[in-house]
Amino acid sequence: MKASPPAVSQYKFKPLIRWVEKMVELCTPQSIHWVDGSDEENKQLCTELVKNGTFIKLNEESWPGCYYARSDPTDVARVEDRTFICSLSKYAAGPTNNWVDPFEMRKTLKRLFKGCMAGRTMYVLPFSMGPIGSPMSRIGVQLTDSAYVVVNTRIMTRIGLPVYQEMDRGDKRVVPCMHSVGAPLAPGQKDVPWPCNQEKYIVHFPETREIWSYGSGYGGNALLGKKCFALRIASNIARDEGWLAEHMLIVGVEDPHGEKTYVAAAFPSACGKTNFAMLIPPEPIAAKGWKIWTVGDDIAWIKPDDNGRLLAINPEAGFFGVAPGTSARTNPNAMTTLSKNTIFTNVALTPEGGVWWEGMTEETPSRLIDWQGKEWAPGIAQKTGATAAHPNARFTAPAFQCPTIDPDWEKPEGVPISALIFGGRRATTIPLVFQAFNWSGAVYIGATMGSEMTAAAVGAIGKVRHDPMAMLPFCGYNMGEYFRHWIALQRKLSETPRVFHVNWFRKDEKGKYLWPGYGENMRILKWIVDRARGRARAKETPIGWMPHYEDLDWTGLDFRKEDFEQLQKVDRLAWRSELIGHEELFFDLHEGLPKEMLYERELMICRM
Ligand code: OXD
Ligand code: MN
Repeated sequence: MKASPPAVSQYKFKPLIRWVEKMVELCTPQSIHWVDGSDEENKQLCTELVKNGTFIKLNEESWPGCYYARSDPTDVARVEDRTFICSLSKYAAGPTNNWVDPFEMRKTLKRLFKGCMAGRTMYVLPFSMGPIGSPMSRIGVQLTDSAYVVVNTRIMTRIGLPVYQEMDRGDKRVVPCMHSVGAPLAPGQKDVPWPCNQEKYIVHFPETREIWSYGSGYGGNALLGKKCFALRIASNIARDEGWLAEHMLIVGVEDPHGEKTYVAAAFPSACGKTNFAMLIPPEPIAAKGWKIWTVGDDIAWIKPDDNGRLLAINPEAGFFGVAPGTSARTNPNAMTTLSKNTIFTNVALTPEGGVWWEGMTEETPSRLIDWQGKEWAPGIAQKTGATAAHPNARFTAPAFQCPTIDPDWEKPEGVPISALIFGGRRATTIPLVFQAFNWSGAVYIGATMGSEMTAAAVGAIGKVRHDPMAMLPFCGYNMGEYFRHWIALQRKLSETPRVFHVNWFRKDEKGKYLWPGYGENMRILKWIVDRARGRARAKETPIGWMPHYEDLDWTGLDFRKEDFEQLQKVDRLAWRSELIGHEELFFDLHEGLPKEMLYERELMICRM
């Protein structure tokens, strides 16, 4: 079979053609499809996906351009225990990553990928993380046997001809990304709607900047530009080049003077990043002239410019958002974004050919087909607890459809970052908001962040785990070295961003949330922006600067001072166990841990 690219270039494709030929020899696909990214191609792929039973076309009138997919029930989330960082040394991967000797892993991969695409098409999918032409953007080529992955990646990144042209210029290193669902077809064998393999491997080779993914067709396991490239491989590139690849949303906060302050915020998976990125201020605050603009909802690449200012881009072009809980009340901007040209996976199907998920409407439809294709009615949920949509059901929607998309979201040089926020999902101990005293204190706060686990990854939901900078599953090298890199970055800055920690999820003794969250988070964001601009007051506490009750704008919200004080309480006894937990984390990371982390902990103990 001949590996010939579309007629865009003749010469500089050569390394790519050679690689494709080598991989064709290994994977033995039935055919090769060089993805050009055109509308016609997308239509054709979607039609084929419908024919194969992977996609159901939704009602064109109510859900124009939308498709629906159900995954195999064993392939519903990222598989962190099957994710590997195969650096040359074990130390380079660090104690928080699964490490396998790269030579061993290459042997395993060779066995797995041998003939893995038999009977299928190999798609050659060139993609750009970041706007095409931006000096901060990076290029990858994914070879995949999943058309579902191609049409999702078309929404999540920039793909096709412009990327081949970018490659042609020859000044950007290309990250090779191999992907197979691991389900070869024998001659005459009928395909299934969601091919996958029970054996899964999500593998990264940081030194050679390579990704190999086998056995899964879902989300971050398969859309390799997202977590594998833009975080795990990019964090390695960023360390080597002096910038940051972070699990952060980016928003622009417009104030009544019409000035915009950009803020990046790190929260673990499924902790409301998409909601925060598309926040609508409460009416009385909006009336004063405050508005939120969305740049990104999941990943930020942040780099100091020549003047020591931090600039950031969103390397993605779409939102791969958690559907359950998203509604016209919680996130109207997301609902508008996903109302057309969107792919839904593992939500429920309505009899009218629409989609539904828990929390979408107040009333539950009386009849649905659930995410596993079974008849579902509210009575079933009462009896069995089974939800109609999988808790990690997702929408893949184009970012440009977001009503609050920032006019500068694709600016090649990025947007200037003035404040950073860390946040987790914590029922106890952690106050609603506080500000770090300084940069090393900020790195300590990010490093010791904890959060209750969610359905975004396979694992024990609800268990609090340390998730430094929300990067535990995504940092592609030694976590201690990553903290060191953060500490060192400040030396390149002429202006250090202010850094904050938030927790929207603190509960009272009866288990009731103390803070209303959602749009009301604007009041906290407003204080953060005012602090960053040096126009808001705060008081010193053992853990950092905190607003007095009077420092927040309560216009239009009846929130009592006692309740605010309960939310902000620094309980010294609870912080004792928190600090013992930090010690445990540092015990695991001690080999690479920068001294600043130990000194910060000592200082915190003294202040307590
Ligand atoms: C995501 C995740 O999909 O963090 O963004 O799991
Ligand atoms: Mn994420």
